[in-house]
Amino acid sequence: MAIVEPKKITTSKGLDIEIVSAQPEEAAKVLSHLNSIVAESEFLLITPGETIMTIDEEKKYIQKVNDSKNALFLLAKYNHEIIGLITARTFEHRKKLDHNCDLGMSVSQEFWGQGVGDAALGLLVDYYRKSKGIEKFNLEVFSSNIKARSLYKKHGFVEESLEIKKYKLSSGEYVDNIKMALWVGK
Ligand SMILES: CC(C)(COP(=O)(O)OP(=O)(O)OC[C@H]1O[C@@H](n2cnc3c(N)ncnc32)[C@H](O)[C@@H]1OP(=O)(O)O)[C@@H](O)C(=O)NCCC(=O)NCCS
Repeated sequence: MAIVEPKKITTSKGLDIEIVSAQPEEAAKVLSHLNSIVAESEFLLITPGETIMTIDEEKKYIQKVNDSKNALFLLAKYNHEIIGLITARTFEHRKKLDHNCDLGMSVSQEFWGQGVGDAALGLLVDYYRKSKGIEKFNLEVFSSNIKARSLYKKHGFVEESLEIKKYKLSSGEYVDNIKMALWVGK
């Protein structure tokens, strides 16, 4: 079972945040967080109004993650409300990919710049360094997302490749995709 021990942090503005593994019964709240962050950030794949998952699909997904060997789904909470999430998707059904995980993360706008993303990513990387279940972390980031690129570099991620004009924004502007990775294996 891939579950982390709850961790408490205090943000740079003095707010007490808890980082915990998601539970299936929180599926509706997770979707609500995702819907709100999609409206707040242009750096996510989903455009406002596009379907994410049904509550039932999300519930099953969280259960599957928690039952898995290495996948993680963590929530950052303030006053018991979800204000951020970080997920590590794994490939346990593919032996040749089993040492990888794909990361995704978001923090609600109100809490940006207070160290929540930093703490969540640190907790996740630390978990895998100790469990030794995963050797390579992969993620994709809009080239224009300077903040996220800087956060990932701070945690040791390197830029591995560039996909030109991968994204097309509603303004008609194209944005490149950067693939970043962190190797923690031998
Ligand atoms: C990217 C995101 C997860 C960062 O979370 P956060 O809680 O705001 O980040 P933190 O406050 O923990 O900052 C951590 C690091 O990010 C970088 N960072 C944060 N704010 C920044 C800014 N305004 N400019 C440049 N770098 C910044 C810095 O490296 C910072 O470390 P430092 O404080 O030691 O300099 C958050 O802004 C977010 O959810 N954005 C929208 C969704 C998104 O872009 N997700 C990532 C998709 S790949």
